[in-house]
Amino acid sequence: MVEDDALRATREAYDTAAPVYAELFRDSLRDSPLDRAMLSAFAEAVGAGGGHVADLGCGPGHVTAHLAEAGLAAFGVDASPAMIGLAREAHPGLRFEVGSMSALDLADGALGGILSRWSIIHTPPREVPAVLAEFHRVLAPGGHLLLGFWATDDSAPALVSDHAVAPAYRWSPDRLAEMLRESGIAEVARMVRAPQPTDRRQFPEVHLLARKN
Ligand SMILES: C[S@@+](CC[C@H](N)C(=O)[O-])C[C@H]1O[C@@H](n2cnc3c(N)ncnc32)[C@H](O)[C@@H]1O
Repeated sequence: MVEDDALRATREAYDTAAPVYAELFRDSLRDSPLDRAMLSAFAEAVGAGGGHVADLGCGPGHVTAHLAEAGLAAFGVDASPAMIGLAREAHPGLRFEVGSMSALDLADGALGGILSRWSIIHTPPREVPAVLAEFHRVLAPGGHLLLGFWATDDSAPALVSDHAVAPAYRWSPDRLAEMLRESGIAEVARMVRAPQPTDRRQFPEVHLLARKN
């Protein structure tokens, strides 16, 4: 895996946090009907015969498993070996690999879909265009991307100063949609969910669905 300082720090932090993270988020989709709705729209857009779907930055694999249950040929990739170990343990029937979103071990056009849910938040903003270019490279024409992240009203990415695990950035949905468009991946729809009183963080949550031209 190609690893720079930021990725190394993120990987080490998630290796330490993995068991707690897995426990905290195992059932998180159960209480998030709007997130499930966007995952369902993504699954339908890709289609059961739509080819392989990568959950990039899959963490402990609970969302990968949700996509597999929806009928997709889903597999997970994460920089953290500890996360991948937990994902394999929890979902022995699914494929999980250690890897980096910025240098995927996949052929051009190999994927019908990419899910990147709260993983791009840890990419330093200057490196995000390269990650989006990598998403474009591995997506087949017509393939779909579902990107999850916290929103900010600022046009520049905003550092989440107190993220418990690793430095993280919030993004303007308009700005990320524009950067996707510049990468050849066009927005289809977005869902911006207002923070709920029970949310750990009081930031709007975005799911942005897009399609490679
Ligand atoms: C906040 S967790 C999100 C996990 C899962 N996607 C979810 O929705 O719960 C972020 C995950 O992204 C992984 N990650 C961050 N940057 C990555 C990168 N460049 N390549 C691969 N994985 C990455 C971390 O190791 C961590 O497991």
